[in-house]
Amino acid sequence: MPEVLLIKADFDRKSDWVEAFTGFDLEVRYWDSPGAAEDITYALVWQPEAGALAAFPNLKLIFSIGAGIDHLIGDNILPSGIPVIRMVERVLTAGMTEYVVYNVLRFHRFMPQYKIDQRNKVWREQIQVPAWQRHIGILGLGVLGTAAATALVGLGFQVAGWSRTEKHVDRVQSYYGDAQLAAFLAHTEILICLLPLTRRTENILNADLFARLPKGAIVINAGRGGHCNEADLLAALTDGQIAGAALDVCAHEPPDADSPLWQHPHIDLTPHIASMTLPSSSAEHIIDNIVRLRRKQVLTHVVDFTRGY
Ligand code: NDP
Ligand code: OXD
Repeated sequence: MPEVLLIKADFDRKSDWVEAFTGFDLEVRYWDSPGAAEDITYALVWQPEAGALAAFPNLKLIFSIGAGIDHLIGDNILPSGIPVIRMVERVLTAGMTEYVVYNVLRFHRFMPQYKIDQRNKVWREQIQVPAWQRHIGILGLGVLGTAAATALVGLGFQVAGWSRTEKHVDRVQSYYGDAQLAAFLAHTEILICLLPLTRRTENILNADLFARLPKGAIVINAGRGGHCNEADLLAALTDGQIAGAALDVCAHEPPDADSPLWQHPHIDLTPHIASMTLPSSSAEHIIDNIVRLRRKQVLTHVVDFTRGY
């Protein structure tokens, strides 16, 4: 009898997920019809209900459909002792690079201002800034941050990254640890958040951080809504400390109908689409780890719950 992978993902992509594992020695079941709980050996999930995974006594591995695993923390969501593998796959990485490059170029070339001018029938030039004079800072220089940084370097920007540990990425200045955060921020005109949400990074985009950026800086948050203190961001936009923001993630998704985020002239809001996990490409990563487990080899991208990511 084949091992069973149980999937909790968007229902409208069910057939894509099933198709992605075709030909691999694995039975795929969906969350709404799991069959006998003892059959389930692997779970691939996004936002499972608290405690739900503990119902499967023979689970060997848990895969997060997202790169972030904050949806698996808290409230006893996880049975203990089972490795959790987060999503790292080429389409997810490429999608985030596109989102970051697109937004950096928009702000770098003053497109939000031109849009406002167009609405007001104003024909006005902004003086172009060469990319090599534009300082981009990326909070989180992991899989996604490094790919985005490398693409921005390729376009000629001055790029720096901030991480927990020191990094060596070609032409990307590495800042690391809390002690170097202020120095990193002092040069950053366009700030991109690609951190995981942990106890240490929660609320990091706050009034104190905004005040350390050069006046008129831009904030792009594609990490998690919990990184950003939205009241502080709105205040910083009002006083001009922050000139514009692109938010792909919010504290409440979607924001409440009366949230100022919807209508704010200097906020560009997208519905958590900076990047997406695709079944076809992510199946390679999942299969690779199942094969590694079967062969008793080292697994890849296992979450370290003491770090929180
Ligand atoms: P990684 O784990 O590869 O990278 C995380 C980076 O954050 C690392 O460089 C790490 O430093 C750094 N970091 C973590 N904690 C701290 C800290 N306290 N201080 C300084 N640096 C810290 O993750 P990914 O790049 O794969 O993904 C990042 C996040 O992007 C995800 O967790 C998710 O929240 C978000 N995401 C959002 C998507 C969207 O559509 N909006 C899509 C996919 C992901 P070090 O390397 O030194 O440990
Ligand atoms: C992720 C996400 O974490 O899509 O992958 O947010």
